[in-house]
Amino acid sequence: MCTTKHSVRIWDLPTRVFHWLLVASFILSWLSQGDDRYLDIHVFAGYLFLALLIFRLIWGFVGSNYAKFCNFTCLQIGGYLKTLFTSQRQHFLGHNPAGSWAVFIILGLGLIVALTGLLTLGGEERHGPLAGMISFELGDSLHWWHDSIAWFMLGIIGIHILGVLGESWLHNENLIKSMFTGLKSTTTQSIDIPKHSLTTIFLISSLIVGMASYFNGYLLEANYRPFIGPELPTNPAWQAACEECHLAYHPSLLPARSWQRTFAEQAEHFEEDLYLEPDDIAELQTFAINNAAENTLTEVAWKNNRSIPPEQSPLRITEVDYWVTKHQDIASAIWQLPEVNFKGNCKACHLDAEQGTFEDSAMYLPE
Ligand code: HEC
Ligand code: HEC
Repeated sequence: MCTTKHSVRIWDLPTRVFHWLLVASFILSWLSQGDDRYLDIHVFAGYLFLALLIFRLIWGFVGSNYAKFCNFTCLQIGGYLKTLFTSQRQHFLGHNPAGSWAVFIILGLGLIVALTGLLTLGGEERHGPLAGMISFELGDSLHWWHDSIAWFMLGIIGIHILGVLGESWLHNENLIKSMFTGLKSTTTQSIDIPKHSLTTIFLISSLIVGMASYFNGYLLEANYRPFIGPELPTNPAWQAACEECHLAYHPSLLPARSWQRTFAEQAEHFEEDLYLEPDDIAELQTFAINNAAENTLTEVAWKNNRSIPPEQSPLRITEVDYWVTKHQDIASAIWQLPEVNFKGNCKACHLDAEQGTFEDSAMYLPE
């Protein structure tokens, strides 16, 4: 029998744009995780990822034929797998049953990853739409789930890619190319679906507007800080007493017991005598204790405090485990730069060192 193959459009433009933007946002969020300097990019990638998933959920109801969830073939998975490696294997124009499952699983996992990301941002970092709505503890454990489910999702994506390559090979058609062109070749009658150019224009222009409003600070401000932490209490006497020799470290960087020790030992402060009078000590110590790590709601205060064993009262911030872990990857050549000079010179790398908030994306490494 002689059959002629012809190309038909299966994937509408919004579905294809969605697909590749989702890939791009996943890659971007993967590349920007793990280094606090890029948290704002990571968060942007996450918002984009979530917005795309929501679009796809809607498109699954109102989009064109093959994008609609009601035309997915999930239930035919048994027959599909049974005949997969035989000559009776079934060919599907739209998503095959495995592909249909992949879409639902990736949508579901993606939503969970995005939601746990928002909760982590709100709990641990106190930013985003859920800022401060949950505790640091809960934010911290959701962070673990956020990472773990993202890894699991990466595994599912790996299986999805293997499936696409396998199906392309079995049916001798390039499915990856189809996801770019929207076309598939077939011998049977089929409906050619509309392009939906307007929806595509809406998608792309939302992306451009979103990027412009999220990142414009970098163009408009020299020392732009994407995340601004809370205005922490300050004290002129504290400023005056400490700033003479180094940054007036905000008291929220160490627990109250560390400050008590600092003032008890003020005559031998790192081989310096602070020459403080009892009255000054009383004032400074009250300010320090009221605003110590355990009494301040910032990520650095909470994490520093958590990482100090209760029986220890370190005098140095730079010896706290959390600090050490965060800075262990910085090359020794950087510490020796004249503008850095010593580890406690937080200002050399943190734009908000004086404020004491040590926000993500507000740090940089001097050249
Ligand atoms: C006369 C100078 C001088 C004054 C004034 C001074 N310090 Fe210091 N401070 C030092 C020196 C020196 C070090 C050690 C720096 C180094 O080599 O790392 C230090 C280190 C510190 C550190 C540890 C930094 C780290 O590595 O984590 C803290 C905390 C600190 N000072 C708190 C204070 C506070 C609070 C005040 C004000 C009440 C103050 N200092 C005033 C000289 C001073
Ligand atoms: C040589 C530059 C440099 C100096 C000096 C420095 N930091 Fe950092 N800090 C960084 C970099 C870079 C990161 C991001 C590390 C990462 O995520 O890989 C960072 C991360 C942090 C974080 C984690 C922030 C977050 O939101 O997760 C805290 C807190 C912090 N620094 C506090 C301090 C304090 C306090 C000092 C001074 C006692 C200090 N740093 C000195 C470069 C520096």
